[in-house]
Amino acid sequence: MFDKQCLAIIGLQWGDEGKGKLVDYFAKDYDAVVRFNGGPNAGHTVYHDGKKFGLHQVPSGVFREKQLVIGPECYVDIRKLFDEISMLVGYGFRPKIYLDKNATMILDNNIRYDQNNKDKGIRTTGCGVGPAAAGRASRIQPTAGDMASAFAPFKEFITISDTWFLLRFWLSGGQRVLFEGAQAIGLDNIHGDYPNVSQRCMTGGIFTSFGYSRRLRDSLEVLGVAKAYVTRSGAGPMPTELPPDEGRMLRELGHEYGVTTKRARRIGWLDLPQLRKAVHLSGADSVALTKIDVLNGYSRQAPVCQWHKCGSAINAYPLSQSKIDTKPVYKSVETESKPYVKFVEAQAGIGKVSLISNGPGRDDILRRPDEGW
Ligand code: IMP
Ligand code: MG
Repeated sequence: MFDKQCLAIIGLQWGDEGKGKLVDYFAKDYDAVVRFNGGPNAGHTVYHDGKKFGLHQVPSGVFREKQLVIGPECYVDIRKLFDEISMLVGYGFRPKIYLDKNATMILDNNIRYDQNNKDKGIRTTGCGVGPAAAGRASRIQPTAGDMASAFAPFKEFITISDTWFLLRFWLSGGQRVLFEGAQAIGLDNIHGDYPNVSQRCMTGGIFTSFGYSRRLRDSLEVLGVAKAYVTRSGAGPMPTELPPDEGRMLRELGHEYGVTTKRARRIGWLDLPQLRKAVHLSGADSVALTKIDVLNGYSRQAPVCQWHKCGSAINAYPLSQSKIDTKPVYKSVETESKPYVKFVEAQAGIGKVSLISNGPGRDDILRRPDEGW
């Protein structure tokens, strides 16, 4: 349904919007699936043949036996990558991964440091990504190219490469490429709620990773992904958050537990100002709205946060919950797909909801009808 040669799938909230499932679904129409950000901190849930898989570093195109790329701005935990590949091989898959030689390696001391500090501040996933990024900024961190020999035991599955060159070759040859974003705009190190953020999550990472080439620029379509409510796995402002007890039922219905950390996710109502900002920053041409079925199972009506300043509409997302002049104002909306989607489209100024996902299975994805809505 996406006509252009390349498609980027980008999270618009705080991660866990259902990107993995969409990547798995659309991968059938593409020749390669590319990760351009994040590392083992990412957790992408994909159901394949009735079994639930949690992927972290291997791109979600693996179940469709596509060419896979881990780009230069990614972070790599070699042990976890080997474990993930071994798990997939155990299920009969043969991953074919091109790992960029400039990707940053995560070392044991990075993980130890992150683990020791993760509960003190922003509640990271404890995978060592932040400390490895600090090492990169300090120019002391090894790259995949530096440690190429360590990948030898898995050379059947991993090739260390210049992935920009590979992409250039594929794109000029007419091959179709799907870019799989990890984390989300709300967790971007610059545009998210700093310091409660991860590393870079912007669509632009595709260009800084593989070059701002005319072909890539002209051939890229962006699909933003938003959940019909919001969740957050770490610390940080969440203006529409439900009190822990009240969020429980929605959490159970939506299976809102971390894929990487197993911890219970915080739950909140859909935040329209957040969505509006993320659509702009991501350049989303259209939006996939996921888990409407969960909201519908919870209640026939759900509050949606429209404004943050009492009495008047503001576009800005509040800097922090402690700002007393910002207050969520809710409007109840029917949770049936049609009224909910139409309300979100109108209020979030997002142009178009192109897809609605209403169940965990691979085929529980609907195109938004153009007629009769
Ligand atoms: P880090 O990426 O492990 O350093 O964690 C930084 C923040 O990003 C924490 O709030 C994490 O909970 C959050 N985070 C990182 N990766 C993901 C993800 O894949 N889904 C949701 N939250 C994430
Ligand atoms: Mg996730």
